[in-house]
Amino acid sequence: MASFKQIKGFVFDLDGVITDTSLYHTKAWRQLADKLGVAWSKDLEEGLKGISRMDSLELILKTGGKENDYSHDEKVALATEKNTNYVNEIKKMTPDNILPGIKDFLDDLRNKGYLISLASASKNGPTVLKQLELVDYFPKVVDPATLSKGKPDPEIYLKGAELLGLAPEACIGVEDAASGIQAINAAGETSVGVGDAKTLSAADVRFDDTTQMTLANIEKAMA
Ligand code: BG6
Ligand code: MG
Repeated sequence: MASFKQIKGFVFDLDGVITDTSLYHTKAWRQLADKLGVAWSKDLEEGLKGISRMDSLELILKTGGKENDYSHDEKVALATEKNTNYVNEIKKMTPDNILPGIKDFLDDLRNKGYLISLASASKNGPTVLKQLELVDYFPKVVDPATLSKGKPDPEIYLKGAELLGLAPEACIGVEDAASGIQAINAAGETSVGVGDAKTLSAADVRFDDTTQMTLANIEKAMA
C-alpha cells in the first residue's frame, strides 16, 4: 500500500459508493431473472455488482444453466429490457439520493486539491451524476464504452488515473464490489472498500458505510 502522503487523486466507483443505485440494478435484474426462470440468491446479487451490463446478463444466464439458450440479438434485447426498467428508476433520483457523508467527502477532497475521476462500468453514469447534481465534481469520467475488459480487469482504474495525469500509486480507488477492489489492486492503486468485510476482504482499507469514509479516517488507516 502507498503512503497517504503519496496520494494525489481519487478514482471513484459510482453505483453503491456515491449513491445506492445498486438497489435499482438489483431490482431490474431480479425482475429479468424471474422472467427467465433463474433462481435469485445473495451470491448472484453480489456477483452482479461492478460488472458490465452484458457480463451481468451472461452471469444470470450461466447461473440458471441457460447460457446457450439465447442468440446474440435475443441477449441484446434482454439487456435492453433491463436497462429500460433501470433508467425509469434513475430518472426519479435527486440529490437526496447521494449516500450520507459523500458530499462532504467530495467537498473536502476538492478543497484540499485532490484530483477526482469516475471509473464506473455503467453507461448510465453521466445521467446519474446529473440527477444527483454532482457533474461538477467529476471533470474526468472514464467512458466504459472505450474499455476492452470490465472489472475485475484493472483497465478502468488505470484509465481513471491516466485521465488525472497521475501514476496509479498516487491514486486511491473507492469501491463497494469485490470485482472493483480486485481491479483497483491489480491497477496498483490503494483500494478503499465501503461495505461488508467478507465481500471486501481484499481491500487495503475498508469502512462499514459512507459516513465513515473521511480523509482523516483514510489517513489513519494508511498510517
Ligand atoms: C456497475 C454496476 O456500476 O455498472 C453494475 O455495479 C452494472 O451492477 C454496471 O451492471 C453496468 O451498468 P449499466 O448502467 O451500463 O447497465
Ligand atoms: Mg459499485
